[in-house]
Amino acid sequence: MTLPFDGAITRYLNDGAPDAVRKAIEKADKDDILAEDWHWKERLHRKDYKSHMEDLQRQLVRMAADLKATGKRVLVVFEGRDAAGKGGTINVIRENLNPRVANVVALSAPNERERGEWYFQRYVARLPAAGEMALFDRSWYNRGVVEQVFGFCTPAERERFFHQVPDFERMLVEEGITLVKLWLNVSRAEQLRRFLAREGDPLKQWKLSRVDVEGLALWDDYTDAIAETLDRSHTDVAPWTVIRSDDKRRARIAAVQTVLRAVDYEDRDDALIGEPDPRIAGGPELRG
Ligand code: ADP
Ligand code: MLT
Repeated sequence: MTLPFDGAITRYLNDGAPDAVRKAIEKADKDDILAEDWHWKERLHRKDYKSHMEDLQRQLVRMAADLKATGKRVLVVFEGRDAAGKGGTINVIRENLNPRVANVVALSAPNERERGEWYFQRYVARLPAAGEMALFDRSWYNRGVVEQVFGFCTPAERERFFHQVPDFERMLVEEGITLVKLWLNVSRAEQLRRFLAREGDPLKQWKLSRVDVEGLALWDDYTDAIAETLDRSHTDVAPWTVIRSDDKRRARIAAVQTVLRAVDYEDRDDALIGEPDPRIAGGPELRG
């Protein structure tokens, strides 16, 4: 069977990628610098990662029990470029939780009917109810980034989105929903590395789409759209946490720490959770 994007990533690497990106990705040493602003020479050891993650997952179980008992609602938005690690981070969060408590919302492109609705409408239908945590794998922020880069919306629709989004999110927070917005930041070389890995792995090829393949050459358009989006939607009521995700392990730990610290649940163990590493997680200024 020939897959629709067979070889497309390799062709891009050989013919289309800028020299600097090609050099970065061809470095033989896996632990070497992936991005210019990379702060770690060494990956977090698997053993240390596992033991901290298990502690965090036990806290997540406590948090989920508390949501159920108290009827609290939590909504976590996962955003970031393709292959930034949204799916993997969501998986470690829900791994040990009842799927009725932690449900993943990963909507496909809007259909004909949805295109005729208020932009936020189909997301509203998936907001968490009492005792639930909704994990949004992409969100209404498609309008800020991918829809802009690929021309899926008009400039007027995008402007209306930016005008409405602070009010929309303020209403969610006023309503009592704990809203956490995570922006996973992947470097250009690491994204390409991950795409190549997907291309070569029959179990992962499904993750590659036209948007990924065509998006490779649109890196700078994405950069501009992301900068504007973070700038216009980072509010006091609903701030962004940017997480550098080239190092998957450190990024996942910082993401789970951020979620746990945002929710006020019984017996939350702040000492055990720890503070997110400021070199990995912070405000929009961390965007590389
Ligand atoms: P994902 O990264 O979620 O696996 P893709 O990379 O294929 O998915 O697409 C990125 C996002 O762009 C998805 O959320 C998808 O719904 C959105 N998208 C794709 N095509 C369209 C379209 N025609 N109109 C609006 N959004 C679209
Ligand atoms: C991610 O890895 O960030 C996404 O969940 C998957 C993708 O990029 O297509």
